[in-house]
Amino acid sequence: EKPTDPKAAFRERVHADMLDSFDEELEEELDDDRLAALLDHASDHPDEKSLSRSVYFKELFRLQRELVKLQDWISATGAKAVVLFEGRDSAGKGGAIKRITQRLNPRVCRVVALPAPSEREKGQWYFQRYAPHLPARGELVLFDRSWYNRAGVERVMGFATPDEVEEFYRSVPEFERMLVRSGITVIKYWFSITDEQQHFRFLMRIHDPLKQWKLSPMDLQSRVRWEDYTRAKEDMFERTHIPEARWWVIDGNDKKRARLNCISHLLSQFPYGDIAHADVELPDRKHTPGYKR
Ligand code: ADP
Ligand code: AMP
Ligand code: MLT
Repeated sequence: EKPTDPKAAFRERVHADMLDSFDEELEEELDDDRLAALLDHASDHPDEKSLSRSVYFKELFRLQRELVKLQDWISATGAKAVVLFEGRDSAGKGGAIKRITQRLNPRVCRVVALPAPSEREKGQWYFQRYAPHLPARGELVLFDRSWYNRAGVERVMGFATPDEVEEFYRSVPEFERMLVRSGITVIKYWFSITDEQQHFRFLMRIHDPLKQWKLSPMDLQSRVRWEDYTRAKEDMFERTHIPEARWWVIDGNDKKRARLNCISHLLSQFPYGDIAHADVELPDRKHTPGYKR
């Protein structure tokens, strides 16, 4: 039964969001077995439209096991991949990235989240500061925001001139085609949220001391300039959606579904399979020369 009173409905939504945050802490702190045992006794999510917690965790762990297979395949075959995470502030990019990297080896799968460009970087070729972070053989690199800043925040906030933005649209397909020809798989995700959902998430951030750091002056501007960001996003899709590196849109309004969708889509982009491992035997020091107890 949904409360009809708007205040009660809002309280319920806040409660559901707090439970979601609680789930995130559980997820990061507990190992699979302990979490599974806890979930057997925990009551489920009050919002029935949302995924039940036990279904979510089961599916998340299944996908994370698949990610480990993908990691093995990338290491074994020497594949190279970059995945770009774009979207409005609070759309859930960071949360999806965390779930992907959680169980992986940071030497195979790493995250790049560059700060605003320095004065020196502003005087370089635009793509120069991104290039050193591109993957080498056997690496999967996740960009938490990327060169697409020029088409988004830099365009909307005026950090780049219209000419620079136009030059970006012209060069980015060429740049990405060069990456693809060099053997890099390029995957681009746009996390999409509604105006109303962003408003709600910012409210929650204002009131949660653990989340306040996530609210930057740039984020507050993204509320004010919602329409400008919509136009910027539309132009970006139109000018930079190419067959070699297409945009995939993920509905970010339900965080749990968004994460599962993103991971399972990412997995679908690679022809990975099981990589055979030699059986591992723990060395027994008693049989090594010079062993003393
Ligand atoms: P985030 O939302 O990623 O936590 P911010 O909201 O602070 O970070 O900034 C959004 C994006 O805008 C970041 O990618 C940042 O690098 C970029 N940015 C901020 N200030 C500038 C600037 N002066 N010039 C270019 N880019 C900037
Ligand atoms: P995004 O993909 O994050 O830009 O946002 C997409 C969501 O925002 C969709 O649910 C759209 O229907 C909604 N949306 C996009 N533009 C607007 C707008 N100008 N006003 C209100 N909602 C919008
Ligand atoms: C997100 O949730 O999309 C990222 O964490 C970015 C942000 O903090 O706004």
